[in-house]
Amino acid sequence: MIVTGGASGLGLAMAEAMCEGGAKVVLMDLDEAALTREVARLSGLGQLVAGRRLDVVDRADLDRAFDEVAAREGRIDTVFANAGIDPGPGFAARDADGQLSDANRIEHYADARWARVMRVNLDGVFYTLRAAARHMRPQGAGSIVVTSSISALRPSAALASAYAASKAGAAQLMRHLALELAADGVRVNAVAPGPFATNIAGGAMQDADKRAAFAGIVPMGRVAEVEEIKGLALFLASSASSFITGQQIAIDGGASLSAARQ
Ligand SMILES: NC(=O)c1ccc[n+]([C@@H]2O[C@H](COP(=O)([O-])OP(=O)(O)OC[C@H]3O[C@@H](n4cnc5c(N)ncnc54)[C@H](O)[C@@H]3O)[C@@H](O)[C@H]2O)c1
Repeated sequence: MIVTGGASGLGLAMAEAMCEGGAKVVLMDLDEAALTREVARLSGLGQLVAGRRLDVVDRADLDRAFDEVAAREGRIDTVFANAGIDPGPGFAARDADGQLSDANRIEHYADARWARVMRVNLDGVFYTLRAAARHMRPQGAGSIVVTSSISALRPSAALASAYAASKAGAAQLMRHLALELAADGVRVNAVAPGPFATNIAGGAMQDADKRAAFAGIVPMGRVAEVEEIKGLALFLASSASSFITGQQIAIDGGASLSAARQ
């Protein structure tokens, strides 16, 4: 089982859940220090865990990394296409009057920010799904889980336009590939998290004010802890979801139900 962006946050929790379920896990991530630390920690729990430095936008290296796992393990059963970014600094940023911050307004939105978000969140997911399909279609089995966002379901002024567009693109790519791979026994689904306390956007979700702002858009009134992704990750990876494909499942304390403001 492979998880991209597996050395932190939601990806790490997904990897931990799979370890707890007895799977062999390969964490792939840009951050080598975090990879080393988390592989050691999960291995210490008695699990078979490996780490591989990977930038998901480096498609040649991504193909190599997947080939290495398949050569060693004989197959790739589950792939979490999870690596993603929100580049800030506009993350959850509002001006003093409570309005959307200038940094997130389309008139000021820099080309380089747009390109970076699309590159990681959309191109990176495409490369990951393509590499997964190259192994899973011949196997005649597999489960792929994309980490989308409630931004793909409802717009939020707390996040940038590029982020919402990238996640909606990833969600539609997931649906397309679910259809394309269904007859070959490969399922493709997505999780759409609401706010989770991870290290995204340079750790913005660890900031008390930002957390409070996000808690305000959640009917359950709080930001989620990363462990709360585990049940859904296990469900989608396992045969418990054997007849489910092409679905995006929100895990958001009801946030996608509430009306968007601004
Ligand atoms: N935290 C939230 O509130 C939230 C909500 C909805 C969706 N998401 C999505 O969840 C996914 C995981 O984010 P997170 O919140 O756990 O953040 P995080 O920053 O804690 O973890 C992301 C991990 O991905 C890695 N990464 C970033 N760019 C990469 C690249 N190009 N190649 C390989 N690895 C890379 C980082 O090094 C990091 O370890 C992202 O796709 C994010 O958009 C997060």
